[in-house]
Amino acid sequence: MPNTVESKNNGCKGTLRGKRIILGVTGGIAAYKSAYLASALVQHGADVHVVMTEHATNLIGKATFWSLTKNPVITGLFEQPTKPDITHVSLPESADLLLIAPATADIIGKMANGIADDMLSTMALAVRCPVIIAPAMNMNMYTNPIVVANVDRLRQYEYIIIEPETGMLACGAEGMGRLADPDVIVRRVEEVLIGGRRDYSGFNIMVTAGPTQEPIDPVRFITNRSSGKMGYAIADIAASRGANVTLISGPTDLPAPEGVEIVKVTTVHEMHDAVITRLENVNMVVSAAAPADFTPAQVRDQKVKKSEKWTLELDKADDILEEVGQRKGNMILVGFAAETENIEKYAKGKLSKKNLDLIVANDVSPGSDVFGSDTNQVTLYSRNGDKVEWPRMSKREVAGAILDYVKNHFMEELS
Ligand code: CTP
Repeated sequence: MPNTVESKNNGCKGTLRGKRIILGVTGGIAAYKSAYLASALVQHGADVHVVMTEHATNLIGKATFWSLTKNPVITGLFEQPTKPDITHVSLPESADLLLIAPATADIIGKMANGIADDMLSTMALAVRCPVIIAPAMNMNMYTNPIVVANVDRLRQYEYIIIEPETGMLACGAEGMGRLADPDVIVRRVEEVLIGGRRDYSGFNIMVTAGPTQEPIDPVRFITNRSSGKMGYAIADIAASRGANVTLISGPTDLPAPEGVEIVKVTTVHEMHDAVITRLENVNMVVSAAAPADFTPAQVRDQKVKKSEKWTLELDKADDILEEVGQRKGNMILVGFAAETENIEKYAKGKLSKKNLDLIVANDVSPGSDVFGSDTNQVTLYSRNGDKVEWPRMSKREVAGAILDYVKNHFMEELS
């Protein structure tokens, strides 16, 4: 079967893809600007859930936000949730960010004093994610010492305050209190959620991920337990940090990361060809796939009947990474080592045999819970002799940490 090439980039900026943001809208006249904000966050790929106070609904309609975000808009604390994961407890639990814009003196006062008497103030107490507050109100209110003290109190609790701008206010007065420019708010959201980092901008990275399937007859194949999650996380995070990423993927059920060119393959031969023919201009290869080590010596044309006695003969498969290592040039090569015993010895052996810069070793012995899991506990061995052991982290955190390590230790070699 030939390789299939898909590219998933729907034209949106995509920097906030996969991020769930609760947008709290309170009853300031600037509430109309929240519609632009909601739309901008959606265009950046975020999953936006709008929570409005009762007062805000007098200034802007729920339908506006529903249309822009495609999510139900929540107002009342006792409304029946439209989805089980959208309640005052479950939504805050799954949120990556709570953004309140505009934030009135009322919501600021409630939050500074732990009051939870409506949906938004209740969620504000329930969230465990970063909180950004963009106040907007009359200048005299904003400079009132009680409001100043409340804002200071929120700062002490590490809430992020985006100061209002100075200019013409809705009341006709000139002064400080106008909601910050929504584009400034979006940039702050990006900084908080993705660190605003584009440190892989202009680099071409190839990532392999997932298992391969080696057919033995028309209905059966040999495979392994790789889920592809680690490689997909690396591809996704590298792309969000500005890299041009080609993901060579064996069969998985995972959605294609946004903005990544994905090449789908089935067998180790197909993965080999997909990798080797695309190496030109690649600065870095991360080999997170678990390609087969053995392929059936013979693939039967017809389904083998169970009445038959069947002994399989297996040939050694191409070692893709080893071949890439022989053509290394000034590419950075990162391999993975899945081991059940003698982890350090075997990982270091692969590091030198495959001519790698870095190998990420993980323990896949029974009970280690790596395959299919969202977390991983890895140890890095570098060609410089470094050994770095990390605690159990999410695979996305491991992906980010590997990219940080490469940036700090090998970046000058990437050209
Ligand atoms: N790898 C590869 N091609 C293969 C097998 C493995 O490119 N046919 C790559 C993997 O993507 C990984 C590294 O080689 O980055 C090590 O894979 P691993 O399965 O740990 O080790 P193997 O080299 O296959 O050796 P062994 O199975 O004997 O441990």
